Amino acid sequence: MGIHDEDIARTRAAVDLVAIIGEHTEIKRSGRNWMARCPIHGERTPSLSVSPEKGVYYCFGCGASGDAITFVQEMESLDFVGAVESLAGRYGIQLRYTSAGEGQRRGRKKGLQEAVGKALDFYHERLLSGQNSAEARAYLRSRGYDGELVRRYKIGWAPDDWDQLARHVQLSADDLRDSGLGFVNKAGRQQDAFRGRVMFPIHDERGEPVGFGGRILPGHEGPKYKNTTTEAEVYDKSKVLYGLHTHRDGIVKAGEAIICEGYTDVIGYATAGILRAVATCGTALTEEHVRLLKRFSANRLVLSFDADAAGLAAAERVYAWEKEYELDIRVAALPSGVDPDDLARQDPEGLHRAVDEAVPFLKFRLDRVLDAGDMSTPEGKARAAEAALDVVREHPDTLVRDQYVIEIADHTRIELARLRELLAAERRPRPAAQQSTRYPESRYAEPEPNWDDYDPGVDPDDPPRFDLNRLTPEDEAIRLMIHRPDEVAGRLSAVLFGNPVRREAFVSLESEGVMAAADRVGGRAATLLRRLAVEASEADADDVVAGVVRLAADRVVRDLQLDARHASGVEDRQGFAQAIAWVKTQSEQLSERSSREAAVDQLLPWLNQHAEGRGA
Ligand code: UTP
Ligand code: MN
Repeated sequence: MGIHDEDIARTRAAVDLVAIIGEHTEIKRSGRNWMARCPIHGERTPSLSVSPEKGVYYCFGCGASGDAITFVQEMESLDFVGAVESLAGRYGIQLRYTSAGEGQRRGRKKGLQEAVGKALDFYHERLLSGQNSAEARAYLRSRGYDGELVRRYKIGWAPDDWDQLARHVQLSADDLRDSGLGFVNKAGRQQDAFRGRVMFPIHDERGEPVGFGGRILPGHEGPKYKNTTTEAEVYDKSKVLYGLHTHRDGIVKAGEAIICEGYTDVIGYATAGILRAVATCGTALTEEHVRLLKRFSANRLVLSFDADAAGLAAAERVYAWEKEYELDIRVAALPSGVDPDDLARQDPEGLHRAVDEAVPFLKFRLDRVLDAGDMSTPEGKARAAEAALDVVREHPDTLVRDQYVIEIADHTRIELARLRELLAAERRPRPAAQQSTRYPESRYAEPEPNWDDYDPGVDPDDPPRFDLNRLTPEDEAIRLMIHRPDEVAGRLSAVLFGNPVRREAFVSLESEGVMAAADRVGGRAATLLRRLAVEASEADADDVVAGVVRLAADRVVRDLQLDARHASGVEDRQGFAQAIAWVKTQSEQLSERSSREAAVDQLLPWLNQHAEGRGA
């Protein structure tokens, strides 16, 4: 039920974590490590620390931690096996499975994807060199698509025939159907899904071909666009965005994505030099699309729909997404009836301006309502104000609402106080889902950590109190074990760790490297190990060793004092008193630079023996 350990290890060894993370967010060197804006929780200032040496990352903002495999799991919403497969695919590593069934299931999906890729090549080839593609080529030229552009977007031509593709790809009836490439007709013969169409191949965010949008040529019968059927197994239109893989870098760099409706709009943006547009494929924008873009560090989404369509987008959802995903969603106001592709050809400057001057979603809607109003009569103004208030009312934030009410007052010359009254009077309760954000506004304003009840686990509802600059001595000791083991060799032992999670982490490091150790122990100890692996320690090893020995000694003194109180005989009590006095004296020596090394040498074996004697 999985992949061979050896192959997982080979995959891990092959990956370049900085490059993998760099696909999703801008990442910059900072000393020995790298820092990035965390694409897992999304943010404006970098708090994701990445150690390429150790192959681990840790986010000081949201507490996410792990290695390349967990990162890919997170980013691509995959399970462990899926993430290993994704990485192995990228680095050309052949995987072996521990159960044949698993391999078969995964193999089938891969096979379907390969079939789509084969179809892509077939269609593309047909367009470039097929005999019957002259009309398609002329059409594309008329739209201003040159050979280079056709090659970049792998545009193709599905011949106007029954089964040319089916004969070329040679699939079983099931695979033909599940790949979305064709079907078996009533006569029992395989038939192509796309005929006589210009083909725009659609890739998933990893660049794997998953489907097509096919456009009919002008003057031919049929719907203008036909997309891969929703029945297809490797194509899910609510999760896929046309152009995302191609324009990934532009999106990551700008922290912004432009969302259009059409394949040709995405290409139009690109020809105007704007390389961060994507399109939904014949569907409305979904939360999955939004989440996907967020995973590529887009903190700003610019809706670039036809003016009417943009106005109609569900406002409630837009505001909810803005809050939930810490997004700024704007609208690029295009002239009515003009799509980005038209504007890219007629007025590329205008397209740039529309994006640069994109306005908040609410402002866009409000302007449209006010512009449509009749301000020449009191009745007209009142109607416009009411319609405008309805738009404003949809926004969940009081302060935002109030600022727009001021705009309505300016526009309609209706008294502000009166508008505020009206707004408040008819206020509907907001849905509960919009009330809370997942992360605090200021994640650095956390209270000082209290070492005693410090919890190294990751609880998404409880923001982390973890700060590498303020570690407990035990954490520092573990960090030294990870990064500078030679300096603490023989001077640390399990008894020095009072906290069970840290003890487990320490013990695991005695026998193997940090990543293997983390994998084996799992749970909180693994999280702790990964967090500490992210950044090398600056601490002085002697200080740290003395620190943990001192804490352990203090614990033992407390235990002995308790025991002494319950001891019955005088001799017993004297024995305890002597032991306590000795440990205390040694412990005091620990604070003196000149004597602490000797004190460690005295105390450590004694502490080990004492623990054994207690039978633990
Ligand atoms: P449009 O009709 O605006 O087409 O549909 P377009 O993108 O401007 O295309 P050109 O410029 O005329 O070639 C926008 C999008 O809606 C979906 C497609 O995804 C298309 O790109 N659509 C449209 C369909 O799925 N089916 C249709 O019949 C029409
Ligand atoms: Mn168009």
